Amino acid sequence: MPSKPLHLGILTGGGDCPGLNPVIRGVVYQAETLGHRVTGFLRGWAGLLPPGHRDSSVKVPSGETRPLTRADVELIHSEGGSILFSSRTNLKKVKDGYAAAKEMLGRHGIDVLLATGGDDTLSVAQELHQEGVKIIGIPKTIDNDLPGTDQTFGFDTAANIAMEALDRLHSTAKSHERCLVVEIMGRHAGWITYAAGVAAGAHLVLVPEVKYDLDEIYRVVRARRDGGKHHTLIACSEGAVPLDSQIDEVVDPKAPKKYDAFGNVQLGGIGKTLAKLIEKHTGVETRDVVLGHLQRGGAPTCFDRVFGMRLGIAAANLADQGISGKLVALKGTEIVALDITDALGATQETRKTKRLPVAWYDAVRPFMG
Ligand code: F6P
Repeated sequence: MPSKPLHLGILTGGGDCPGLNPVIRGVVYQAETLGHRVTGFLRGWAGLLPPGHRDSSVKVPSGETRPLTRADVELIHSEGGSILFSSRTNLKKVKDGYAAAKEMLGRHGIDVLLATGGDDTLSVAQELHQEGVKIIGIPKTIDNDLPGTDQTFGFDTAANIAMEALDRLHSTAKSHERCLVVEIMGRHAGWITYAAGVAAGAHLVLVPEVKYDLDEIYRVVRARRDGGKHHTLIACSEGAVPLDSQIDEVVDPKAPKKYDAFGNVQLGGIGKTLAKLIEKHTGVETRDVVLGHLQRGGAPTCFDRVFGMRLGIAAANLADQGISGKLVALKGTEIVALDITDALGATQETRKTKRLPVAWYDAVRPFMG
């Protein structure tokens, strides 16, 4: 037991994902077991800005907190989303944001802050750690693209949702003898599309890690029709890109780009574009389906519930031991604590994205077509 009971803060930032509530539950149960108390800061980093904070980059109410007890979190393990809400508030963009956050932590008497998020939220956590704040990162994202951890919670649920959607789409595509292009989330990493696409037997799986060839897509769609196969199902990552020589056929350079508060370009639309091209070049009736935020909603899978709880427990244990500046992560089957800077990369420039190994893709090529 530490010398004095601690006051832990917790927040959930960035795009939500199934498994956040099990993390919160794991933290609160373990903290209480060890004699500590927990306060939740609402809406990601906005929770660490003073109430009513005025900054044009902050789009949500700031400075709201709630105490978290065992009774509050007892039944949240099966709920999707986050009881603490989430936002993409970027403290780096807020004038004197870090000073304000430190002030808020001091005002609430927080000993250690547990920040649950993806690369953006965790990059702020890492910088706050460098500024002397006692902080522990808990990696989260459906995209599964964070370095350091073998997997992120949320991914398993999202991949299962996408797989079930693809399973269903086979039958409607077949009844109408169509081609269906299914756009799947994941940003610049193809983990969800790969897992769902392979598991559901999609005829083509397009991921950002392997540039696709439009002519090969048309060839497959035509060959399936001519070979009496009735339908083609294509699982396509929102961040998939064509061969360099074909980029002009897919991307309109004049189309305005939208970015989020962390400078991430908002993806989407590739499914529609490909569907039009496929229909034009093959004559096969083609539709697109965007799975979108459906992949982030609803109850976490058994794996993500248990995984999230284990991460929460591990983070509370580290705080109890007086350890901070760490990222709790999955290595094989064990939860480990990594140096947050080593795990994520020291700066924006050196920050890494964990991408699907091309060898994994090559291994399933015989299943496509
Ligand atoms: O990072 C998670 C993610 O769901 C990505 O897969 C997707 O591109 C993005 O967030 C969507 O963000 P938003 O919720 O802001 O639309």
